[in-house]
Amino acid sequence: MALRNIRKMGDNILTKTCRPVEEMTPRIKELIQDMLDTMYESYGVGLAASQVGVLKRIVVIDIGEGPVVLVNPEIVETSGEQTGDEGCLSVPGKTGTVTRPMYAKVQAFDENMEPVTVEGEGLMARAICHECDHLDGVLYVEHVEGELRDVNYEEDEEE
Ligand code: NI
Repeated sequence: MALRNIRKMGDNILTKTCRPVEEMTPRIKELIQDMLDTMYESYGVGLAASQVGVLKRIVVIDIGEGPVVLVNPEIVETSGEQTGDEGCLSVPGKTGTVTRPMYAKVQAFDENMEPVTVEGEGLMARAICHECDHLDGVLYVEHVEGELRDVNYEEDEEE
């Protein structure tokens, strides 16, 4: 297991557009495994390659239903709307209200460069949109309605 350093808001790399993966290599497979390890270690539900300093169009997501690897993802369909709190491993300790589609469908390639179609509602749709934004250099804070707030851990523990 190899953990990578998660870049934080203010780091220029998070504002850059990632480049498509042309072919799978052992090095990129290692990157994907490291991204999964890093996401789980940080209790995140998603991570984009740019967040670990690599400008490639790769995201990993796990909303508690198993790991999903998306290489060169393209959102092909969205519908509905949901408004709720969102956070990001690159913006630690903060949360903000963001409106996203309720449903999202994405076409991508998996870690073997096999085509995959992934769709989801609720948290999965939110994660897909949030992570794909990262690949275009967009952080969720740009979509936040109202103020970015501090996460109140004590309050969470009481719930
Ligand atoms: Ni994020």
